[in-house]
Amino acid sequence: MRDRRGTQAVSPVPLGVDDSGWVPVTAGESGATVFRSADATRYAKCVPAADAADLKAERDRVAWLSGQGVPGPRVLDWQSGDAGACLVTAAVSGVPADQVPAEDLRVAWERIADAVRRLHGTPVSRCPFRRGMDAMVAVARDVVARDAVNAEFLPVDQQRTPATELLGRLTRQIPQRREQEAADTVACHGDLCLPDIILDPQTLDVSGFVDLGRLGLADRYADLALLLANARETWTGEEQARAADTAFAERYGIDHDRLRFYLHLDPLTWG
Ligand SMILES: Nc1ncnc2c1ncn2[C@@H]1O[C@H](COP(=O)(O)OP(=O)(O)O)[C@@H](O)[C@H]1O
Ligand SMILES: [Mg+2]
Repeated sequence: MRDRRGTQAVSPVPLGVDDSGWVPVTAGESGATVFRSADATRYAKCVPAADAADLKAERDRVAWLSGQGVPGPRVLDWQSGDAGACLVTAAVSGVPADQVPAEDLRVAWERIADAVRRLHGTPVSRCPFRRGMDAMVAVARDVVARDAVNAEFLPVDQQRTPATELLGRLTRQIPQRREQEAADTVACHGDLCLPDIILDPQTLDVSGFVDLGRLGLADRYADLALLLANARETWTGEEQARAADTAFAERYGIDHDRLRFYLHLDPLTWG
């Protein structure tokens, strides 16, 4: 789920899970609350009952990815009932990639590209989850129809444009994007931003991916768009950002129009 750090009051004990001392990590706008165990070996993600199906979908994706040779969490416990649901996973040890300075991210950048390629290289026939563009567009239509778009998630130059118009611009591209997707479908993370990539702080290798609730088969550009845009918040200038984009482009042959489509579709799917 989209990572937003907040300070709302939270229960100190994750629902239905042992009370051995849990520290709140986030109180996301997504409605999920994430806790870390006192010994930092486990994470617990808790949601109200209305969001239990989404968390169950995340549980199934975590379980699937841990059998694919791509580093990530392991499911340790799952609780669900009238009061909500809670997923406990083993900690992927290290620091989230949004919390390292630009020079460290630059060292890790090629390794992040390799880890993303490894994820994207998982055999498509083995991935039972879909996160296709049509499904994303359907979510976006619903969010826009409910007038629930969170303007903060939009690029600054789109924040004053009515969401119906933003969606209309994207809708005109659908036939072309559908064809591209069909030719280039891979297992995508689905919310590939730096907080969900954990780095070993000593070696700057990728320890694993977390927050897998949107994992599924999709156009690889859906992931690349979010990652490159999000990393721009860490790079310290236009020159460094361009060099980093080039390093990625060398591996992927980046199509910037296609990146922009997914970059602009994603904010319309939260709300
Ligand atoms: N199993 C885990 N291992 C390491 N870090 C984790 C783990 N689960 C969550 N985190 C940390 O907590 C943050 C929030 O958890 P996440 O699942 O991304 O919640 P949200 O859906 O609110 O974004 C992550 O960005 C990551 O830094
Ligand atoms: Mg997250």
